[in-house]
Amino acid sequence: MRRTVQEFRKAKGARLVYVTAYDYPTARLAEEAGVDAILVGDSLGMVVLGYESTVPVTLEEVLHHTKAARRGAPNTFLVADLPYLSYATLDRALQAAERLLKEGGADAVKLEGGKEVAEVVRGLTRAGVPVMGHVGLTPQTASALGGYRVQGKDLDSARRILEDALALEEAGVYGLVLELVPTPLARLVTERVSVHTVGIGAGPFTDAQVLVFHDLVGLFEGFKPRFVKRYLEAAPLFRQALARYAEEVRSGAFPDEAHSFGMEEEVLKRLYG
Ligand code: KIV
Ligand code: NA
Repeated sequence: MRRTVQEFRKAKGARLVYVTAYDYPTARLAEEAGVDAILVGDSLGMVVLGYESTVPVTLEEVLHHTKAARRGAPNTFLVADLPYLSYATLDRALQAAERLLKEGGADAVKLEGGKEVAEVVRGLTRAGVPVMGHVGLTPQTASALGGYRVQGKDLDSARRILEDALALEEAGVYGLVLELVPTPLARLVTERVSVHTVGIGAGPFTDAQVLVFHDLVGLFEGFKPRFVKRYLEAAPLFRQALARYAEEVRSGAFPDEAHSFGMEEEVLKRLYG
């Protein structure tokens, strides 16, 4: 059955499993596999829409994929990403969250940033919207962080991430993604905040883990960050299947009788006249 926000909030040390899914079949597979939560991440822009970053992703796109994922996983807790600039003001954030929750069927929304988004987080949570935070490497503003690199390695930036995490907790997030930070920092943040942390490239001590579906099954071949573990090499299998299909169509081996439909002799005779 679908978990509740309350269960996640206090899931310290629970080793919960999040995975991204953006459509009906993958959400369905995730639900069948028994994951604790699905994230309709704006990573969908890169792994299913072919954008070079998450920046161009629109609310309409996240909404479209959220609806599909929800249909595939009616009984799984589902978090939808607020895309870049859709939470630049509290007003915009409320409108975006309203659509993702009411039309999309999401249970919660996630947004990126620290202290600078605390007021928006507070406004959303006051309005009753479950909000997940996201600190460390924040892909929507990655270029300002110097690209996709580990965050919080020096004292100043590590302190900032810890302070951001505490500010988000205070503002009411029910959970917090820690992306691409050193393991000891993720451990410290996890110890210091009362809400559950969800790590990606953050080591084993967070309260939950998340991976991008297309990364873990090997369907996204653009690049493979070190924190990604591929549990399957799906792309070569898909390529082989497509090549065999093409070959069989061209050779006439497909469709054969087993994949075609006959007709009664008598009907056929009369049809020919
Ligand atoms: O968009 C996404 O998939 C994410 C996760 C990597 C946390 O934000
Ligand atoms: Na995201």
